[in-house]
Amino acid sequence: MTAITNPRLVGFLADPYLRMEALDTLNPVAEAMSFENHEGDWNSLLFRLHESKPEAILLDLSSVPADLNIAIRQLRSQVPRLKVIALHSSAEPQSILSAMRAGASEYLHSPLADCLQPAITRILDASDTESSSSGRGKIIGFLSSKGGCGATTVACHVAGELQALTKKSTLLADLDLTSGIVSFLLKTPSSYSVLDALKNISRLDESLWKALLTEKAGLSVMPAPVVYSRWDHPDEEQLRQVLRFARTQHDWVILDLGRSLNSIATAVLEEIDHLFLVSTLEVVALHGLQTIVHGLFAQSDKLQLVLNRTPKTMDISTHELAKVLGRAIYAALPNDYLSLYQSYSSGNLLDSKNVLAQQFKVLASKIAGVQPAKTKKKFALFG
Ligand SMILES: Nc1ncnc2c1ncn2[C@@H]1O[C@H](COP(=O)(O)OP(=O)(O)OP(=O)(O)O)[C@@H](O)[C@H]1O
Ligand SMILES: [Mg+2]
Repeated sequence: MTAITNPRLVGFLADPYLRMEALDTLNPVAEAMSFENHEGDWNSLLFRLHESKPEAILLDLSSVPADLNIAIRQLRSQVPRLKVIALHSSAEPQSILSAMRAGASEYLHSPLADCLQPAITRILDASDTESSSSGRGKIIGFLSSKGGCGATTVACHVAGELQALTKKSTLLADLDLTSGIVSFLLKTPSSYSVLDALKNISRLDESLWKALLTEKAGLSVMPAPVVYSRWDHPDEEQLRQVLRFARTQHDWVILDLGRSLNSIATAVLEEIDHLFLVSTLEVVALHGLQTIVHGLFAQSDKLQLVLNRTPKTMDISTHELAKVLGRAIYAALPNDYLSLYQSYSSGNLLDSKNVLAQQFKVLASKIAGVQPAKTKKKFALFG
């Protein structure tokens, strides 16, 4: 059986009789089921899963190298929601129990002729329903062109507005690991941070994930760590895995990525759907913006520019500015320091009547592709 690019189902079958039986049953429908039997060892299986991200695995329990619990965690660290169909040569109560306890979705034993195909169809159909009902959440990052341009403020408010507009599950994750303040601003103290998600990557599931989050005004918040040293710097692939998992749990995943082209922002870029660069009109900030745009050239289709704290009258038109920066301005937000100061002091986002809040709503509507609810337009710089 030849390898296919993106199998939905991968087989790992060491027992020669079980393998023969399973392959005899599956060969005629292998293509239709998008099935690939993996011939290598356990490590090469992990690599193959990582690269092809199938939805389910047909796992011969005798081919598992370690304790089944650990083995299934290893598999799910490659594909967080992988469904496991456990196969065994006989119906041993002890193996059935341990397979189910370890999180297998099905347990099948010889003879497989009548039960294998229906079980696979059931599992893949369930996976279809899950992915169409939960969808694939969008990941949106906010990065400040230099310190203090407003990435955190914009990320928090856009997250709040996206949730309010779409009524969908929204995560605000603070990936500004060295100096994240989302949880301080929103007054959502927590003992957990994104580092705990990373530490527990191999056993992340819905309930553990929920335990790591705090809730505020309809938003799920994952804070930055309170203490961070360079020894805590996350493994970049694991960080991307956490984001891939977050996508399965939320419709919107909003990331505060801190400032400048830092290593975290660069590491997660390939997982992100849109990266918003937040800049002010200060020369140094615009210079930082150009440096980032230049540095991320290869991924430039994901980049959008947001101008923050724009004055009511600008020395340069947006059109001219877009020409200088080499791309259109996605949004321009007015300056309202006092209102932000007051709302943060009480641990809240801006009141919806506030002019700046209304512009956050317009920005969120544009991102979500929905019409904003009509509000009186007191401030409009760029339509
Ligand atoms: N549109 C705005 N009008 C007025 N003040 C703003 C605006 N946006 C942000 N600020 C203020 O600017 C300061 C910096 O904002 P914020 O912390 O969001 O920026 P940042 O880019 O995340 O900064 P850092 O680099 O420290 O992470 C804060 O005091 C915030 O209240
Ligand atoms: Mg910030």
